[in-house]
This record gives sequence, structure tokens and C-alpha cells, in this order.
Amino acid sequence: MVEWNGTSVWEGSDRELLPGIIDLHWKSRNNGRPRIVDCNYGRGLFWVGSRYERDVVGIDINPARGKTVVASNNHLPFANDSIDVLVYDPPHLIDNSKTPRKKLLSDAYSCAWGCSSLGDYMAPFIKEAGRAIKQNGILIAKVADIIHSATYQWQMLMLVGLIQESSLTACDCIVKTRPRPGAVSSKWKRQMHSRRRHCYLIVARKGRC
Ligand SMILES: C[S@@+](CC[C@H](N)C(=O)[O-])C[C@H]1O[C@@H](n2cnc3c(N)ncnc32)[C@H](O)[C@@H]1O
Repeated sequence: MVEWNGTSVWEGSDRELLPGIIDLHWKSRNNGRPRIVDCNYGRGLFWVGSRYERDVVGIDINPARGKTVVASNNHLPFANDSIDVLVYDPPHLIDNSKTPRKKLLSDAYSCAWGCSSLGDYMAPFIKEAGRAIKQNGILIAKVADIIHSATYQWQMLMLVGLIQESSLTACDCIVKTRPRPGAVSSKWKRQMHSRRRHCYLIVARKGRC
């Protein structure tokens, strides 16, 4: 695996990036092994072959996807101040399609359990993160801005705004890029925005940066 080089733009995978972020922002200030909770575990792709794989408790609301616990991350089944590293990879879309193929995508990437904007969706989670993360512990949140209904959705700004209103402090931002943007739909008649090929990993700490 290629290791993250510690810079603010990363062109590799999440699973190469996450251990480096944990080392930089958690291990440098804490001893022992971290209690890591990935609360959108999905297929667990963040941890395949990672040196932190055995430290991860995986939570997902979808029973087919929760590694250890099936629960909503709005109500984390953990005591106050008990998590060292909380990892958040929320859905990117606010649609939930009913057609079978799109339903698969929807379950993975959409607010499949009802929300009117991703900001509304993230708000209860950020409050819960502030409760459950230990002093000096960190939140690593992956978020992407998207174009929805021909309108730019400033999801990273929504996330950082919520963090700033919580008991956490936003400390770092890494831009992750991919070589190519997503496919172009035949329904699109003219281009109105640049095509996304990046997302953000935001690091927040309970305590000072
Ligand atoms: C973008 S995917 C995560 C992908 C994951 N990082 C992986 O490596 O496969 C989002 C996941 O969040 C889950 N999810 C959506 N809302 C949730 C909630 N309120 N609580 C917990 N999990 C949720 C979905 O079931 C989906 O598996």
C-alpha cells in the first residue's frame, strides 16, 4: 500500500490515507491503540489491509452492512467520552430512487432513511460525535460537494459550520482527488458546473487543534 505523504491534496485511496491521518492527528498525542468507530461502515473498504483494521468497530444502519453493530449514527451505542477516532462517511445525495438498480446506489450513497438536505441529516450526528468522542479524540469526516437539481450543494461548508457550532474544533482538511470525474448523463443538455473529481476529509478534535 502507498502511504499518504502528509500533504493537503491526495490522489490515492481512502484506505491509504486514513492510517496517515490517524497517525498525524491521534497517535502523535495519545498512547496505545485507538478505539476506532466507523459509523458508516458500508463494505468496510476504508480498512481493507490497513494496520488499524483490527481496531475498528463498524456501525451501519443497513443490517447487510453493519460489521459489528447495526444502529443509526445519530444514536451511537457508546458512553460519553469513549471513542478515540470516529470515522464518518455519510451519503452524498439527498435523493432516494425507487428503481432497483438505482436503489442499490441509493442505499449506499443517498439519505435512504429520509432527509431534506444533507445539512439536516448531518446535524444530529455532529452533536452525537461531540458527546461520544474522548477529550483529544478526533472525528474524520469524508464529505463531497455535489450538483443536485442543477444547483451546487456546499456540503463541506455545511459540515464545517456544524462542527464549529459543536463541542469539536475543525483542525484540518485534505482534498482527495480521483483521476476522472463521474460519467456524463445523456440527459444533460449543457454543462453548467465543473465536473466533480474531488472530495474532502475534514479532521476535527475534541479539544484544541
Ligand atoms: C457512502 S456509504 C459508506 C461507504 C463505506 N465507507 C465503505 O467503505 O463501503 C454510506 C453508508 O452509510 C450508511 N448509512 C446511511 N445513513 C446512516 C445512519 N444514519 N447511520 C448509520 N449508517 C448510515 C449506508 O447504509 C451506507 O452503507
